[in-house]
Amino acid sequence: MRVSEGSRRIHERALRRKGNEVSMKTRIVGTGSCLPETVVTNDDLSKIMDTSDEWISSRTGIKARHLAKEETTASMSIKAAKRAIENAGVAVEEIDLIILGTVSADYVTPSCACEVQAAIGAVNAVAFDINAACSGFMFALNISNAYIQAGLCKTALILGAETLSKVVDWGDRSTCVLFGDGAGAAVVRGDEKYGLLAFDQGSDGTKAEVLACPGRTNNNPLIQTDQRLKFVHMDGQEVYKFAVTTVPASLQKTIQAAGLTPEEIDYFALHQANIRILQSVSKRLHIPEDKFPVSLDHCGNISAASVPILLDEMNRRGLLKTGMKVALSGFGGGLTWASAVIEW
Ligand code: UT7
Repeated sequence: MRVSEGSRRIHERALRRKGNEVSMKTRIVGTGSCLPETVVTNDDLSKIMDTSDEWISSRTGIKARHLAKEETTASMSIKAAKRAIENAGVAVEEIDLIILGTVSADYVTPSCACEVQAAIGAVNAVAFDINAACSGFMFALNISNAYIQAGLCKTALILGAETLSKVVDWGDRSTCVLFGDGAGAAVVRGDEKYGLLAFDQGSDGTKAEVLACPGRTNNNPLIQTDQRLKFVHMDGQEVYKFAVTTVPASLQKTIQAAGLTPEEIDYFALHQANIRILQSVSKRLHIPEDKFPVSLDHCGNISAASVPILLDEMNRRGLLKTGMKVALSGFGGGLTWASAVIEW
């Protein structure tokens, strides 16, 4: 069997780790993000469809979103990645894993992660995309943790990036007003003191239809197909019910597994779908709303990119101090969900 240079390196690292009992936590050491230049307010939307700032703001908390014109999923990912690497102060050659969560990559192949790898010159990295919808960044965090704990990698770049404006149905006002475009990234590596304390992750494929976006239909010569493009469709109320029950339960489980109580958590950085979901989770956990930072007001829902963009905004505003306890949670299509508790 031919063994590639990359797999040989990973295998050797795993072997070297055997006998090395140092327990490392997976720590976020840098963050970065990128939003498209063009901002579209609710009032702007109300000029091109039957909606209003009053409806969108009061039902969701969203006031504006950034929509891509020149930008692509890869170009935003590359900018976010460079900012995260600079913020982390690591050399790009140290990055040995790139995982990118997205449902709106520019290509079916190559992966967006491979495009990022090439653009930033991460020559020592293994790179691949994952699809876990709005939980994509959280799933990437957990996979990078598994690689680090197994000794398969030392420094990972994880991203969530979306150009949702190309997959939403601009004729469906009940979904298109909710979503935006952007990318967020984080550099993670092993640390002896701080980092990931606990994780919870789940999927329920039986509820796939409540939030879905069909892919390409088969177009081979044997089949007559309907070639119309198909877009995101969502049963908003079902997704809402799922979010307000599953997210607090998952957070509670994760916080308990970390040996903490909800009161001991400094911030809850959750997927930014709807302000009412954040308020409901805060109520169910008996935690004041000011511990739930918000970016959905100016970004809308950016699926996999929501959590890393929010984290980057918190980081750059100086909210996150060493040792602070931060609970993260992503939830959405699949259905999927994932929560983590980290010591910053
Ligand atoms: O990231 C994945 C996670 N996604 C979520 O978490 C989304 C969760 N769901 C939600 O946030 C909410 O269900 C929505 C914000 C999507 C919708 O809120 P809702 O209170 O469930 O509204 P609805 O769908 O029941 O619609 C209520 C009314 C309807 O009119 P009628 O039938 O009562 O006359 C809609 O036609 O609002 C109408 N409507 C709109 N009106 C103005 C729907 N969209 C719009 C709009 N502007 N954009």
